[in-house]
Amino acid sequence: MKKEIKEKMFKKALEAQKNAYVPYSDFPLGAAVLMEDGSIYTGVNIENASFGLTNCAERSAIFTAVSQGKRKIEALLIVSSTEKPVTPCGPCRQVISEFADGEIEIIMMTEEGKELTMTNTELLPGAFNDSAMEKNNEL
Ligand code: THU
Repeated sequence: MKKEIKEKMFKKALEAQKNAYVPYSDFPLGAAVLMEDGSIYTGVNIENASFGLTNCAERSAIFTAVSQGKRKIEALLIVSSTEKPVTPCGPCRQVISEFADGEIEIIMMTEEGKELTMTNTELLPGAFNDSAMEKNNEL
């Protein structure tokens, strides 16, 4: 991942984080996804009084990109206001896996710039995918 692209993603995620709708948790997150054509889409967590309807920042960003016709994710970056970086929740890992273009970088950052980078397969080994639904599927 080029330094300039990572910086661009960080800036965009940080800017988006301000729009997080978090009246219940007060835990704002911003996400930026880099798609294979170089475009970047952002997302935030959007909560609801019916808590289970909350949409995570990662999924908001991915669904926005997919809604615009984009399919392949090259990298995903998340920003939190915590002291240490925050990792994506389980459902978000599965959604990342659906659209990841092979092995991709998931960059977890704090507002101060502390960083933890892992790959999608490190975060979710053995993800369920379309080939699992074949009769002659392989593990
Ligand atoms: N949250 C995310 O946006 N992404 C994650 O991967 C973990 C959790 C949000 C959901 C909720 O708004 C807040 O963080 C606390 O759970």
